[in-house]
Amino acid sequence: MELKQQILKILEENRGISISGAKLAEKLSVTRSAVWKAIKALQKEGYCITAVTNKGYCLAPQNDIISAESISPYLKGKAKNFSLVVHQTVTSTNTIAKELAAKGAPEGTVIIAREQTQGRGRMGRSFYSPEATGIYFSIILRPKLSMEDSLRITTATAVAVADAIESIASVDAKIKWVNDIFVNGKKVCGILTEASLNFENGGVEYAVVGIGLNIATQDFPKGLETVAGSIWKDKPREDPISSILLAEILNNIADIKDSLTDAKYLEEYQRRSFLIGKNILVLKGGQTIPAKAVSIDKDARLVVKYEDHTEEALSSGEVSIRPIL
Ligand code: BTN
Repeated sequence: MELKQQILKILEENRGISISGAKLAEKLSVTRSAVWKAIKALQKEGYCITAVTNKGYCLAPQNDIISAESISPYLKGKAKNFSLVVHQTVTSTNTIAKELAAKGAPEGTVIIAREQTQGRGRMGRSFYSPEATGIYFSIILRPKLSMEDSLRITTATAVAVADAIESIASVDAKIKWVNDIFVNGKKVCGILTEASLNFENGGVEYAVVGIGLNIATQDFPKGLETVAGSIWKDKPREDPISSILLAEILNNIADIKDSLTDAKYLEEYQRRSFLIGKNILVLKGGQTIPAKAVSIDKDARLVVKYEDHTEEALSSGEVSIRPIL
């Protein structure tokens, strides 16, 4: 591990507490001047580290720059085995994770970025991914699932994310089929699952699950501002909140990833569903068809009833809430 990372790890473990340069130098068997240089480099990257004469260096409690060191202390159980790779800026974490997965990267490899320049959403859309106010990451999974069951990866992840948002931010998190998370009527998270299928055995070879969360984004581009929202209006000031939330999502994914065929998570998915009973528009084959959302079936498909009273179970596609005229 680079000296900078080693220092960051110690400061993370002692957030809000000052540690002298001499102590850091002794612990890491380097000179005080090497410690000073590494601290300067971290400050340049934006870390809020104060240096007080006779006291030492202190990472501010509210410093919310995501790093492997800031997330790791909050990982539990199987998630502790995940391997976290954090980048400042990438095109798209899904693109990077897919390349790694194709080269054989193991399940649990997590690619995290503080900013994306070409964040991707479903249906060829882009995902707005500005620096510092959101979390953007992709996890490689290698589930033992048939192609037919692959929808469960996304739906289970939506449950994992909604549960984490609710427990960390104490807000109601709803799921709009298939994979959007809503808080206070606005979309705060989107999930993009891209899978490689094995046609020999009819199973999923790997899945890359990309999750984008608006933590405290306030200014969305034109057209998005009516739909998109953020979990917090202002980030809580005393915690590394992005790292805590990201870790909780990973903890939940780790808990759920090996039991995707269990009906248990689906009950939670149904309970959180935002659409059931609502008048919606189904976008299909270039057409927009009015319907009513009836239920989520045991295969996580959205059952809709059209105006001619016929029913259909949708396993993919796009629906929107019908505006009341
Ligand atoms: C959607 O709302 O249509 C899905 C959005 C998914 C965005 C995430 S951000 C991390 C990962 N990398 C991407 O390029 N997309 C996903």
